[in-house]
Amino acid sequence: MTGFFGGGGVCTHCRCRAMVPLKRRRKDGGAAPIAGVQERAPVNRFPGVEIFLLERRMGSSRRAFLTQLARRKGFRVQDTLGDSVTHLVSESNSGDEVWEWLDRQTGGQTPGSLSLLDISWFTDSMETGRPVEILDRHRLQVSAPRSDPEEPRISAYACQRRTPLDHLNKIFTDALEVLAENAEFSESEGRGLAFRKAGSVLRSLPFAVSRMEDLRGVPCLGEHSRKIIQEILEDGVSGEVEGVLRSERYRAMKALTGVFGVGVKTADRWAREGLRTPGDLLTSGHRLSREQEAGVRYYEDLNCPVTRAEADAIGEIVEEAVHSILPGARVTLMGGFRRGKEAGHDVDLLITHPEEGKEEGLLGKLTSWLDSQGVLLYQRVSEGSGGRGRESGPMDHFHRSFSILKLGEQPGAQPGASSADQTQEAAAPRGQGGAQGRGWRAVRVDLVICPYSQYAYALLGWTGSQQFERDLRRFASQERDMSLNSHGLYQREQNRYLPAASEEEIFTHLGLEFIPPPQRNA
Ligand code: UTP
Ligand code: MN
Repeated sequence: MTGFFGGGGVCTHCRCRAMVPLKRRRKDGGAAPIAGVQERAPVNRFPGVEIFLLERRMGSSRRAFLTQLARRKGFRVQDTLGDSVTHLVSESNSGDEVWEWLDRQTGGQTPGSLSLLDISWFTDSMETGRPVEILDRHRLQVSAPRSDPEEPRISAYACQRRTPLDHLNKIFTDALEVLAENAEFSESEGRGLAFRKAGSVLRSLPFAVSRMEDLRGVPCLGEHSRKIIQEILEDGVSGEVEGVLRSERYRAMKALTGVFGVGVKTADRWAREGLRTPGDLLTSGHRLSREQEAGVRYYEDLNCPVTRAEADAIGEIVEEAVHSILPGARVTLMGGFRRGKEAGHDVDLLITHPEEGKEEGLLGKLTSWLDSQGVLLYQRVSEGSGGRGRESGPMDHFHRSFSILKLGEQPGAQPGASSADQTQEAAAPRGQGGAQGRGWRAVRVDLVICPYSQYAYALLGWTGSQQFERDLRRFASQERDMSLNSHGLYQREQNRYLPAASEEEIFTHLGLEFIPPPQRNA
């Protein structure tokens, strides 16, 4: 009879007399109602003692049996892990494993008052007929003291963490990034987000993870992400990630979504038709949108990282143009470069004027000016709706141009040579048809116009990182009953907008410690 205690039916684990199935493993630790245990309000002979039995490694039937046993003796046993639980009892788990499990359940908010106990405490108590005093041998050993209320907890919100650009866990975050992309390529947004959150929290750790125990108390790490980390710790690489990187589908989706103007849905359709590279698009006879045509034409340049020097050069061109049209207007570099990145995929520029209203009509004049100088290779303008989009989600309504600008030879900028080659060979290997030897390169630029009163919100919203922004909005909504986007902060209960003249003020409105841009690389 495998899985059951044989012979006289004495449980060798806790010495209670019964035939008890001992189930080895179940994925979830057991916050679910206990199977086979009848719901009734048991008497509690021992106020102040509330037990929770961890199902992980104990198994559901054994847990049900022990629950009934204890309840018959007048102990209160809770089916779920609530705030009132005082004694958590586990079997065959290490203290570290239980901590990890707890952190996943409570998002790192486990109360320090909860005692983590081995089954021996439970057994002794059942034998004695009352809760015995907790001795050292009853306690689960954890690697380091955890219940210190002074110890700072890692927040599950990226906007409550400091995340520098250079961090110590790149080997893990690179792997998780691949899995996030791969999930998004199959439109599994939820799974993608879980990997992104895991990567984001690892970026904030002030130490390099070298063993699984280092992750104790670290929130936002799901089973799957932990498995990947463990694999990398043990083998140096993750087999699953390597498999994704090798897969034809991932490679095709990566190449096709790398075309400006091509989203996941379109790339997926093309990949299913057998297209593999942007070059295939030129020969396949597919009808391309104007945006996609530009994306294919400038494919190589747009997939070659924009340097900081190039971003500054673009900023200067735009600033010069803006000042010639509207003196006093301000141009601010946002996005990754404002967070200190040395390279990026585009240049994000915010344009405003201290006299509200003066910015109206500026975008048209600016792009005409750029066009007249031969600098505007492509643009699509998104008309501002003017509204603040109170509950409209993260998309904003600014007057904005998604453009591709031509960056000539600039002091500090990379490319150089003749401008004869007007069309790039799409998908040509680097160096065969791109900026090399041509004297100019194409750069993706986002030009965003905002009214001065929304400047701080626009700046905060466009500085990123995306994960930081996502958690700022989630924090505002879930913790403050407010709605945040790039136009403003709306207080739902009082039905009003909170004005802010600086990013610092917005953090203050939200009751958050200010995090400067270089620490927002979540
Ligand atoms: P980016 O996509 O440009 O990211 O958006 P990035 O951080 O600058 O990184 P690279 O180097 O270019 O790849 C910058 C920020 O602007 C916001 C996002 O929150 C993002 O974090 N954004 C972007 C919007 O609010 N709306 C958009 O349509 C695009
Ligand atoms: Mn950017």
